Amino acid sequence: MNYETAKQLLNKYDQGHILKFYDELTETERSELLKQIEDVDFSLLENLDAEKKLSVNRGKIKPINAVTTDDIARNSEKYLNTGISAIKAGKVAAVLLAGGQGTRLGFDKPKGMFNIGVTKELYIFECLVNNLMKVVELTKTWIPFVIMTSEKNNKDTINFFKEHNYFGYNSEYVSFFIQDMAPSVDFNGKILMESRSHISTSPNGNGGWFSSFVRSGLFDKLTSQGIEWLNVFAVDNVLQKIADPMFIGAVICTGKDSGGKVVAKTDPNEKVGVMCLEDEKPSIIEYYELTDEMANQRMADGELAYKFGVILNYLFKTDKLIEINKQKMPVHVVDKKIPFIDENEELISPETPNGYKFETLILDMIHMNDSCIPYEVIRNKEFAPVKNAKGVDSVESARALLEENGIEL
Ligand code: UTP
Repeated sequence: MNYETAKQLLNKYDQGHILKFYDELTETERSELLKQIEDVDFSLLENLDAEKKLSVNRGKIKPINAVTTDDIARNSEKYLNTGISAIKAGKVAAVLLAGGQGTRLGFDKPKGMFNIGVTKELYIFECLVNNLMKVVELTKTWIPFVIMTSEKNNKDTINFFKEHNYFGYNSEYVSFFIQDMAPSVDFNGKILMESRSHISTSPNGNGGWFSSFVRSGLFDKLTSQGIEWLNVFAVDNVLQKIADPMFIGAVICTGKDSGGKVVAKTDPNEKVGVMCLEDEKPSIIEYYELTDEMANQRMADGELAYKFGVILNYLFKTDKLIEINKQKMPVHVVDKKIPFIDENEELISPETPNGYKFETLILDMIHMNDSCIPYEVIRNKEFAPVKNAKGVDSVESARALLEENGIEL
């Protein structure tokens, strides 16, 4: 892209300030900035008004039935055998979403590099590999393990895996891809700059995983090798089962397109998205979209009507994902603290939110599927998220849960 085309494009979106320092930049800086302008998806800015309508535009929400832990126990043999067969037949791959910035944890490296051990080193990535290895050992099958990073943490992540010899995983089965970035804007919709020659960008949310995965060529490669199911999961839950044969078997046996692991909420106001029916189709609504009345609503048996919280561990059928990818994902506009250069060219790291980031969310993919089962897992055995340094969902609470499950720290 040349200067003139960039200028026209920016004027169209009222973002001319991006070229403010252009004349003073070096040749390299100029070409980097023009390349960034070419890569940025400016149409995201059109969501600034639309976002506020997202939750208002919801369909009719109703409670959903899950495959409960009791149902699973009753069908365990059938589910387990079906899941094991699918894995042995090479139909399952695991996709780790590790492109987030983990700002709440306040750790300056990729979250997976955090050492959760106490008397020994035990990294978050290592916990996840250990969990996946259990299934490799059970099925005697290497499961393709794909890791999504972002531009910001890709090098660190790949080097860390290499340095640690992939924590014992077969490196031939490990691959990485980088998710796309989105620009950040101030509250007036003006794109922020992180330096004179760089637009402030951040990973475009965990819903961006599939389009970036396809663009990387890895999706086609895996499907051509026979992969039919993708278990997609978050980096921060150190207790989760990955490529869990029982979960895979339950989704296959019930003939659904997708599945989402859920836990029973401990408190009506717990801040987790919940699985529900929206216009009779499975969907997930965020905790802030639940009214007080819905959060406290009870069924005839006294259980919370919206009790199944999602833990970001999903199973997707690959052919359905291709269909979903043709639809446009909702874009969420989120208030964030975004470092930027002010008019004196000083880099400011704000203490309170100063602008918006644009994100798509994987939870929106559930409603885009035709069918999904909420699959209940036992909370203390499978849900130990590391979101914060202290308090709820923290390093401390995850350590306690790991120990409770017999993992040496
Ligand atoms: P979170 O919603 O916890 O976001 O991500 P985060 O960026 O990691 O952390 P905070 O909010 O700044 O503290 C849930 C999962 O989605 C991944 C994360 O890496 C994590 O596994 N994710 C999130 C991405 O892969 N890309 C993104 O753009 C955002």
